[in-house]
Amino acid sequence: MTGTKDKGVAVPMEQDSEFSRQLAINLGRRNFCAGTVAAGIGAFFSAAPISAAIAATSKPVSMVEGFKAVAASTEDRVIVPEGYQAEVLISRGDPIFPDAPEFDPAGSTSAAAQSRQFGDNTDGMSLFPIDESRVLLAVNNEYVNAGYMFAHKGKSMTAADVLTSQAAHGVSIFEIVRDGDSWKVDKSGLRNRRITANTPMQITGPAAAHERMKTAADPTGSLVLGTINNCANGETPWGTYLTCEENFHRYFGAGGDKKAPVSAEMKRYGIRAKNRRYDWTLFDERFNIRKNPNEPNRFGWVVEIDPMNPDAVPQKRTALGRFKHENAALVVNSDGHVVVYMGDDERGEHIYKFVSRDRYDASSPAANRNLLEAGTLYVAKFMFEAGKLEGKGEWLELTHGRNGLTPENGFADQAEVLIHARLAATQVGGTTMDRPEWVAVHPNHRAVFFFFFFFFCLFPVDEQPVDGVNPRRKNPYGHIVRWRPTGADHAGNEFDWDLFVIAGNPTLHDDLYGGSGNITADNMFNGPDGIGFDKSGRLWILTDGKYSNKGDFAGMGNNQMLCADCETGEIKRFLTGPVACEVTGLAFSPDQTTMFVGIQHPGENQKPSHFPGGGDSLPRSSIMMIRREDGGVIGA
Ligand code: FEO
Ligand code: CA
Ligand code: CA
Ligand code: CA
Repeated sequence: MTGTKDKGVAVPMEQDSEFSRQLAINLGRRNFCAGTVAAGIGAFFSAAPISAAIAATSKPVSMVEGFKAVAASTEDRVIVPEGYQAEVLISRGDPIFPDAPEFDPAGSTSAAAQSRQFGDNTDGMSLFPIDESRVLLAVNNEYVNAGYMFAHKGKSMTAADVLTSQAAHGVSIFEIVRDGDSWKVDKSGLRNRRITANTPMQITGPAAAHERMKTAADPTGSLVLGTINNCANGETPWGTYLTCEENFHRYFGAGGDKKAPVSAEMKRYGIRAKNRRYDWTLFDERFNIRKNPNEPNRFGWVVEIDPMNPDAVPQKRTALGRFKHENAALVVNSDGHVVVYMGDDERGEHIYKFVSRDRYDASSPAANRNLLEAGTLYVAKFMFEAGKLEGKGEWLELTHGRNGLTPENGFADQAEVLIHARLAATQVGGTTMDRPEWVAVHPNHRAVFFFFFFFFCLFPVDEQPVDGVNPRRKNPYGHIVRWRPTGADHAGNEFDWDLFVIAGNPTLHDDLYGGSGNITADNMFNGPDGIGFDKSGRLWILTDGKYSNKGDFAGMGNNQMLCADCETGEIKRFLTGPVACEVTGLAFSPDQTTMFVGIQHPGENQKPSHFPGGGDSLPRSSIMMIRREDGGVIGA
């Protein structure tokens, strides 16, 4: 999510149905003061089939015992456990080329300068090893905070400012090298690259060259400039980076004509006539839907980038569907098919998976390069019995000619199914979800079992359908869904699901809003958003929630990062971020002794932050390096 509004207003928490009451009973809610975490989890997981599978692999030592939990914080700094330290690697506007200027706090950065500097709003990132002392980071730059980027705080944008804004979007790729125990950016790295909202890219897959993808500037329908609102990410075993286009609708408008007609398809993706937020539609005709009604169809995709080759043309992979992509979690199935799990971050939208037509060949990296070019897209349907927080699920195919995806229902061909994936998901009956954020696949170190567990962060929305997988009518705190494919077959059509955690505030609520049994006064949080596993299978949870520390969020402090043991359900707070930030983006050095964590938009909406520079400096989105003072593995 971007631009979290935080008014510290209490959300009414009434339980609105017998169903919710029953769910609360199932969860063991809530004599939270008396129960230990373990007891709470026992009640929570008592009948879950997935939990039984986890228990079968249970280890005696908790995976989160290695560090002392940190307290909730409202301080304007990053706090990590005793024995750990946090340093800044790079901040918005820092140069990533030898000829790039240093950051300009005066707010008059040119597009030329910004396109040689680290972009704004650091988000999802992946690390690619080069050699023992050198690695590559590919990092999303999701959007811009005009209030800090321009001296006029975004209130009187010009055409030149829009170009600077576009240059601060996209992806930053740069080499970092060992620097004693730490790491530093190598501005001379041969692979350093900025990808912006104006970088040429190729549209590939079934929607390429389709009529709906053609514009005046691109009659081929297969070449597009740039990628925008790059939220989170993924990586492939053949060494490419996946960047996901999320809230692309906010950049489009009718060039100042608030009353221009907007098609139903555009409306489903949130596109409106009125100008919003970035002012691009006022100065760049490409983002004017009256002049370029097909341009929005060229955004909302997963983009594959070869980070090792700075000349490689990024590929928009239309086979993966068009929606507001959060991230893309890829796994190679036992039969070699590549499966990508994805969420569409909007209230009432869906969870998807893509299964490649062709198979992965570990012995031939080049042959894998187009695996995301062709395959089948599915949308998830979650089933449950009333009062249960677990159930079965199935994947519904989004293929033209099947499941009602026919010309009579508005889908002329497969390209239209993919371009309007949201409409197709509705047509086939996918389950509407409560804002799916990141998804992660458990890196089962006992791969023989091929047990992979999926975790989806579901972020708060004010109103939502209430069902087993989205159990609260209002969801100000968020929850994490977990599922396991039947027969450990990711390409198969069935799965079992349950809820790993329901975030809540047990100091205020004695029902579902107090959270599941693994939430206590000491670890409570809201807005689970980023999520990822380390090599050992620790689950790291990064939050983008309300940071008012008041009302329903009292005691939760700033956004934070937590560590969970997937087997016991135990959750411990590992890090707290500075004022009005989101914690997002996670990568580890190959030896797991450095954790890279993104601090996005400190001081959002002009809240009082001077992170990371202190004094009266401007707050800047930054990547932090977290290390143990004894050089050990993070979290161990
Ligand atoms: Fe960019 Fe859904 O967060
Ligand atoms: Ca978010
Ligand atoms: Ca996010
Ligand atoms: Ca964000």
